[in-house]
Amino acid sequence: MWRNSEDGYGLVAILFHWIGAFLVIGLLVLGYGMVRTSDMLLQFNLYQWHKSLGFLALILVTLRLVWRMANPKPRELPELLPLEHLAARSAHRALYLIQVLVPLAGWAVASVSPLAIPTFFFNLVVIPHLPMSASDEAETFWATVHASLAYAAAVLIAGHVAAALLHHFAARDDTLRRMVRPLVREKRAVMRRFR
Ligand code: HEM
Ligand code: HEM
Repeated sequence: MWRNSEDGYGLVAILFHWIGAFLVIGLLVLGYGMVRTSDMLLQFNLYQWHKSLGFLALILVTLRLVWRMANPKPRELPELLPLEHLAARSAHRALYLIQVLVPLAGWAVASVSPLAIPTFFFNLVVIPHLPMSASDEAETFWATVHASLAYAAAVLIAGHVAAALLHHFAARDDTLRRMVRPLVREKRAVMRRFR
């Protein structure tokens, strides 16, 4: 139930997927909005939320990668073409990579900013800055890297979601179902226990 099997994803992998997915999509929207707002106080607060949620996304994807290495990979669906398997494998690798690189680049932006505003992780602890020298040029450089990687992630995610929907509604295979079904089954079992 919790672990992956040859036949499909376990609950932990599924929860990591959906929590991570909504977090990353939320961070894209938040990031886009916060750099464009003209209200300074609101902008300061949104930056703090963005940095805390961004670190949470980094922690989650690290745990998710450890969990993935400790679990079997579900068997690839036999109805897919070899080219589709290759495309899915490459896209998933790229999605993992970008989920690590985007927050690291964000951390670099916060670290090299001459304003040196500390990052309070949900007001609990201060995340130290990376040992990099601060300057306006370095801030502009890392902000461009962070933004470019984030918008490349958005394009990749759009392709990933389109592929998942095409598999579900056009090819009508189990690709999307196996990322959802165990969660629905577990929710029903919990509801039954409380009835
Ligand atoms: C998956 C995680 C993340 C995503 C998807 C993300 C996404 C974004 C996006 C879309 C922007 C707006 C870019 C623009 O239009 O200029 C942005 C800006 C920013 N992000 Fe992130 N971010 C993430 C994690 C982080 C982390 C962990 C930090 C810092 C600890 C961070 C710090 C910043 C900062 C400081 C800016 C403003 C840069 C500027 O002033 O131009 N981000 N982020
Ligand atoms: C919200 C819309 C999304 C849908 C409908 C969706 C759907 C899916 C489905 C059906 C799979 C299983 C594919 C397979 O078994 O071959 C999958 C896997 C995956 N998804 Fe998503 N996804 C979404 C968002 C995201 C986002 C935003 C990210 C990352 C930023 C992401 C990252 C991944 C990764 C890395 C895998 C591979 C999992 C593994 O095998 O370890 N997904 N997704």
